[in-house]
Amino acid sequence: MSKMGLLSYKSLFCWFLMTSVLFMFSWFLVLRSTGRSYYVDFGILPNSKVLGIWENENLEGAHLISSSTGEGVIWNKNSIKCGSDRPILKVFMYDLPPEFHFGLLGWKGDGKSIWPDLRTKVPEYPGGLNLQHSIEYWLTLDLLNSEFSENLKGRSAKRIYNSSEADVVFVPFFASLSYNRGSKLKSGEKRSTNAILQEKLVKFLIAQEEWKRSAGKDHIIVAHHPNSLLDARMKLWPAMFILSDFGRYPPNIANVEKDVIAPYRHVTRSYVDDTSDFDSRPILLYFQGSIYRKDGGTVRQELYYMLKNETDVHFSFGTVQKGGISQASEGMHSSKFCLNIAGDTPSSNRLFDAIASHCVPVIISDEIELPYEDILDYAEFCIFVRTSDALKEKFLLNLIRNIRKEKWTRMWKRLKEIEHFYEFQYPSQENDAVQMIWQAISRKVPAARRKTHRDRRFYRMSLPRERALRSVPLPRNFG
Ligand SMILES: *[C@@H]1O[C@H](CO)[C@@H](O)[C@H](O)[C@H]1NC(C)=O
Ligand SMILES: *[C@@H]1O[C@H](CO)[C@@H](O)[C@H](O)[C@H]1NC(C)=O
Repeated sequence: MSKMGLLSYKSLFCWFLMTSVLFMFSWFLVLRSTGRSYYVDFGILPNSKVLGIWENENLEGAHLISSSTGEGVIWNKNSIKCGSDRPILKVFMYDLPPEFHFGLLGWKGDGKSIWPDLRTKVPEYPGGLNLQHSIEYWLTLDLLNSEFSENLKGRSAKRIYNSSEADVVFVPFFASLSYNRGSKLKSGEKRSTNAILQEKLVKFLIAQEEWKRSAGKDHIIVAHHPNSLLDARMKLWPAMFILSDFGRYPPNIANVEKDVIAPYRHVTRSYVDDTSDFDSRPILLYFQGSIYRKDGGTVRQELYYMLKNETDVHFSFGTVQKGGISQASEGMHSSKFCLNIAGDTPSSNRLFDAIASHCVPVIISDEIELPYEDILDYAEFCIFVRTSDALKEKFLLNLIRNIRKEKWTRMWKRLKEIEHFYEFQYPSQENDAVQMIWQAISRKVPAARRKTHRDRRFYRMSLPRERALRSVPLPRNFG
């Protein structure tokens, strides 16, 4: 009996061993066949001649294969440069009345034209902290400029007039400015101008042929200020939003699959001709920000108590006001590391101030979304610390004090290479923030197009009235 038992036990063990080995072997084969290389959808860029992108282990970079030349154009992570035949995003822009855009800047024109003539005068955006959310303004200027600028070099988007041929439809509503300027009730008003503009916008959009064609999926709406478009976002959610983060959005209204994260425009001075180095920046760690009110913000206070006794740490509360901007620039230019702690939203302009100052960002914000992260590795020039770790005794300072000159210098050099991606300017230049945002939009176009096509499968069978109703559907799982 015992012999038999031993035998069956042994054979069971053998069988088990064999299946485990087989399983491991097959797993190994699967791993090998997928490898590190993957194939991204074609038409990764709209109207493109691009066949595909894959990651190649040997060359450590993504390659773009162009069918016209048959040559691989290197799209390496170190140099976001593509061939000169990079396809240009074709953008149709609605001719919304000026009250939605340049009118908010006080531009009146001749009373008849919709758009300012940029060749005579470019309307100015208000300065100060308003500027950090001015993304809408720079994108619109670039589209207007694309009509008369012959120079297509470095251009990633172009305005076209036939919406059937467009890749995307741009909605030129200056939502952040409308929030900053028009959300206070003036005496005698029942509703703010910001609320009225949003209502008008929704009414306008859902009546457009262009909107109905895709139920808005190919529409670009800029709402960079976290509180902008507060009413309309719930109705316009099929569109692609340009946002600073998703902090105040339910995930079915805005998410990283559909939407594009844009940088803030930095408010501190750029550090031109930076010849500083590790030893010449006296402050180890710099933080300047508002003391913090709502959930999540207690982190700032706890860090403050932890760090306030350190002589080489600058930690002060208070928002950067007009005079404070040059002081903050000075401080960041003299610091090795700059802290970014989540405030009432996961993102803030401080990160982009740090980048412009070549001050290595230390990010303590678990929910932060970063611009262009699909093509840019932030770990090369930022230090990320989990909030739970940052609150451990001495953790943060030990971590930072252990970063040696060599590593810091590598990150500082990388900051100088990439700072250009965060620069908003007019006229826009190759691979600056404006062009990088257009390129990020381009990368979203295929997915938006696929969704639109799927929705059309049964489109023709529904009645016209039903179609109109379906043009603004409720998101799934909404509630
Ligand atoms: C717009 O483009 C579509 C598709 O290419 C074309 O059929 C149509 O004729 C164009 N409309 C105008 C006004 O050129
Ligand atoms: C900082 O210094 C004050 C007074 O010198 C002391 O009471 C406090 O305990 C110190 N805090 C820390 C975190 O070391």
